[in-house]
Amino acid sequence: MLMKLLFQQTPKAYRLLSTQSTLPLLNKCSVFSYCSSSQPKIPPSNSVEQLQDQPNNTISIDRSGLYNPTEHSHEPSSDSELVKHLKGIIKFRGGPISVAEYMEEVLTNPKAGFYINRDVFGAEGDFITSPEVSQMFGEMVGVWAMCLWEQMGQPKRVNLVELGPGRGTLMADLLHGASKFLKFTESLHIHMVECSPALQKLQHQRLKCMDEDSTAEGVDKRSRSTLAGTPVSWHATLEQVPTGLPTIIIAHEFYDALPVHQFQRGSRGWCEKMIDVTEDSLFRFVLSPQPTPATLYLMKRCKWAVPEEVEKLNQIEVCPKAMDLTYTLAKRIGADGGGALIIDYGLNGVVSDSLQAIRKHKFVNILDNPGSADLSAYVDFASIKYSAEEASDDVSVHGPITQSQFLGSLGINFRVEALLQNCTDEQAESLRTGYWRLVGDGEAPFWEGPEEQAPIGMGTRYMAMSIVNKKQGIPIPFQ
Ligand SMILES: C[S@@+](CC[C@H](N)C(=O)[O-])C[C@H]1O[C@@H](n2cnc3c(N)ncnc32)[C@H](O)[C@@H]1O
Repeated sequence: MLMKLLFQQTPKAYRLLSTQSTLPLLNKCSVFSYCSSSQPKIPPSNSVEQLQDQPNNTISIDRSGLYNPTEHSHEPSSDSELVKHLKGIIKFRGGPISVAEYMEEVLTNPKAGFYINRDVFGAEGDFITSPEVSQMFGEMVGVWAMCLWEQMGQPKRVNLVELGPGRGTLMADLLHGASKFLKFTESLHIHMVECSPALQKLQHQRLKCMDEDSTAEGVDKRSRSTLAGTPVSWHATLEQVPTGLPTIIIAHEFYDALPVHQFQRGSRGWCEKMIDVTEDSLFRFVLSPQPTPATLYLMKRCKWAVPEEVEKLNQIEVCPKAMDLTYTLAKRIGADGGGALIIDYGLNGVVSDSLQAIRKHKFVNILDNPGSADLSAYVDFASIKYSAEEASDDVSVHGPITQSQFLGSLGINFRVEALLQNCTDEQAESLRTGYWRLVGDGEAPFWEGPEEQAPIGMGTRYMAMSIVNKKQGIPIPFQ
C-alpha cells in the first residue's frame, strides 16, 4: 500500500516536453548575437519595465545599474534563513544573481540548502527515484559494473565512485546483488561523493558501515561496509577521490541537480535570465542588460549544436558544472581506465526551458519559498558527450539509450521473474508496479486500482549514457 502511495506521485522527470519552446524560428545569426553592452543609457530609476514580447509577463528588463536595494526594514521578517541569505547576496552585490547561482544556493547552501539537513526522498519526502522504487534498479547497475570490471580485465583494485548517492540505496542493492562475486567485491573501494551531511549519515547506515580511523588528506570519513566487507569513503567532490586506480563511476540523478544558466532570446539577442528582489521583497526574474560570464558557455554549447537546433529555440539552458564535471570525469577515466554510467532524465540535444521545482510530490513555482522544494533540470546528454570527447582522446562515449533498453538488455525481465517465484502477494504487486515504473512507458496497462494512482513508467523518459576508456571496448549493453 505504501508503494502504491509512493508511486501515484509523479516521478521527478515528469515535466512535460511541451516546456521546450515552440516559438517561431528565428534568424540563425541571432544565435551568436548576445545582449549588447552598448545599450542606450537608461536613467537610474526604480521602475522596471515589463518585456513586450513576454506572453506571460513574468520577465522584466533589468535596467542597468538601477538596482537600489529596498530600505532596511525593522519589521520582523518571516523569511527563512535561506531566503534572507539569497536576498542578502542580491542586496550586497547590488544586482540580480543568475538562475544557476540561485539553484546552487537553494540546493546545496551548506547551512540551509534543500539537500543539506534532511531526507528528501520517498512518500514523506518530496520525490522518489528509481533506486527507491525497486531493488532491481541497483542490482542491474551492479550487473553493468561487474561486466565493465570484466572488460577491464578484472583488476585487483578498483575505485567504485557514486556521485550524489541519496539514501545509499543504489549502492546497497548493488553490493547485495554482487555479494556472491567475491573477486569483484573484494577489488572495490567505494567512494561516495555527497555534499549533504544528513544524507552521508543515511548512506552510512544503509551500507551498514563500521567506522575506521583515517588520516588521509581530503577524506572526510572512512568506513567499511559490512554488506560486502568493502571500504567506503566520503568526499564532497569528485576531485577529492584519490586518482591512480581504475575507476567505475555511477551518476544516477546527479547531473539534474547541477545548476543551469537560462538564456532568453529577445530583441537584443540572447540575454541571461537573472533573479532579483522587488520592492515588495519578492523574488522575480529579470533579464541581464549585458553579456554575462556564462555567455561563454552558451556560445560553446551553440557551436556544438546544428544551427537548426538552436534556431527554433527562444530559450536555452546551459549547465557549465555538467560540462566541467564531465571533463574531469573523462580525464580521469582516460588516465586511470574504467568507465562511467550516467542515468538521468533529459534530452540528447540542446535543452530549452526545463528547470522545475517539486515540493511534496507536486510542481511548485521555482521562486516560491526557496529551499523547501527540489530544483532540477533536464540533462543535456549531447553536451556531456561533447565535453567528454573534448577532454580525452582515450575515452569513447556510448548512448544515450533509454532506461528501458538499458535495464532490459541487462536482464531485468529474468530478475523480476526470479523474484516473483518466491514472494507474498503484496510483494508481487510491488514488484510488478516497480518493474513497470522502471521500464514502462505511460500508465501501467495491468493497473486495476484508482486511475489517479496508476503507476507511470519512467522507461523512456530516463536515459543511460556511458563514458569508457577505449581500452575497455564498448561497454555492455551499449553494443
Ligand atoms: C536527486 S538526488 C539523487 C539521489 C540518488 N542518486 C537517487 O537516485 O536516489 C541528488 C543527490 O546528489 C547530491 N548532490 C546534489 N548536488 C551535489 C553537489 N554539488 N555535490 C555533491 N552532491 C550533490 C544530493 O545531496 C543527493 O544525494
